[in-house]
Amino acid sequence: MIMLQRSDFPSSFVFGAATSAYQIEGHGFGGAGPTHWDVFAAAPGKVVNGENGAVACDHYHRFAADLDLLRGFDGYRFSTSWARILPEGRGQINAEGLDFYDRLVDAILARGLLPFQTLYHWELPAAMAARGGWTNRDVTGWFGDFAETISRRIGDRVHAVATINEPWCIAYLSHFLGQHAPGLRDLPATARAMHYVLLAHAEAMDRLRAMGQKNLGIVLNFDAVQIADDIPENAVSTELYDAILNRWFIQALTCGTYPDEALAGFAPHLPQGWQDDMERISQPLDWLGVNYYTRQIIAADARAPWPHFKCVSGPLPKSQMGWEIYPEGLHKILRWLDADYCRGLPLYVTENGIACDDQLQNGKINDTQRNAYIDQHLNAVLRAIQDGVNVAGYFYWSLLDNFEWAQGYEKRFGLIHVDFDTQKRTPKASYFALKDAFANG
Ligand code: GCO
Repeated sequence: MIMLQRSDFPSSFVFGAATSAYQIEGHGFGGAGPTHWDVFAAAPGKVVNGENGAVACDHYHRFAADLDLLRGFDGYRFSTSWARILPEGRGQINAEGLDFYDRLVDAILARGLLPFQTLYHWELPAAMAARGGWTNRDVTGWFGDFAETISRRIGDRVHAVATINEPWCIAYLSHFLGQHAPGLRDLPATARAMHYVLLAHAEAMDRLRAMGQKNLGIVLNFDAVQIADDIPENAVSTELYDAILNRWFIQALTCGTYPDEALAGFAPHLPQGWQDDMERISQPLDWLGVNYYTRQIIAADARAPWPHFKCVSGPLPKSQMGWEIYPEGLHKILRWLDADYCRGLPLYVTENGIACDDQLQNGKINDTQRNAYIDQHLNAVLRAIQDGVNVAGYFYWSLLDNFEWAQGYEKRFGLIHVDFDTQKRTPKASYFALKDAFANG
């Protein structure tokens, strides 16, 4: 059961669901070019079962029926794939790709939904990756060109644009932890990516503002961070973890500086003259997207190289991903962001959700754990609003079960179950509960 109702929230509050291009569309369709995720998935041992996004949910052909499921909600968060529009990353445009997003946006609007576009949700064109991708300063110009190309086509109809989804995952998870494409474990590469991903954001902001595009933002991921045993070494590690994951990007975007703790490790590897970019990076945003799933418990790890920390398992119940369920953290993060950085800027929870080991029984999925997760996290959002934080919307991750990156298709986050052999969609109990509580009509 979801106990909350629409009337508990401000009347302008946007309820919806989120997806991303590579995770649902079927990248093999419609003339899209190869991405670094195709390359990564083809390398042995990188993705569970060697799966990739070539077919995914076949949303490319099924988007109309998929969007019908969202009728009555307020918004839909989707992303536009760079390699679908520019198969080589720059130069030749794939007209079929632009046509697809044109039809998609019209279909979103026809169902009374506000289109929330994300420009980059991780599928870097392979040709760009081959030129150094996020570690090459030129990526900023390539990304700016892509942003202009897609916005010329659909910018007149989207409600909001986020430049980049989760810079920490693009830079740190992918270049330092090696868990996402391109799968590097390289500190100098990470430092460059930590900076260039923000500069690419600034470039897209400049280009879109010059075109008159409105309502521009960025989507960051945050975890609640807690110390393991309260000993001095752990305190240093916890602060450093928080600086890299939670503060690096928001502090750069709103204050034009990087946190000192994290700079101690990254500064020697940042590109020369990086300080000169900070003014552009900290230009005003119209809104901030907040992705929140879990908390991390941090301990020092003296044997590990810098940053000398490790995440340890927490005591709370966990999702199918093994992530602790900690709704209180969403309330804390929203309050902290507003108080320390955003000061009244509209915050949208652009992702929040849970992977469960959903079982189809007699054609139904009774995902009570997901219902409870949503109810508890919406309660956390509501408390933040009551505390005076300007939270303007909530998008459940995700509308559909989909390609969960390195975890392949096994981890199911959707409100809608997808049978990946037949492409049959089955709405789960959580879908009906969310619709009953928050959809109009
Ligand atoms: C994310 C990603 C999603 C993931 C989700 C669950 O932005 O982290 O946007 O693509 O699927 O977070 O891991």
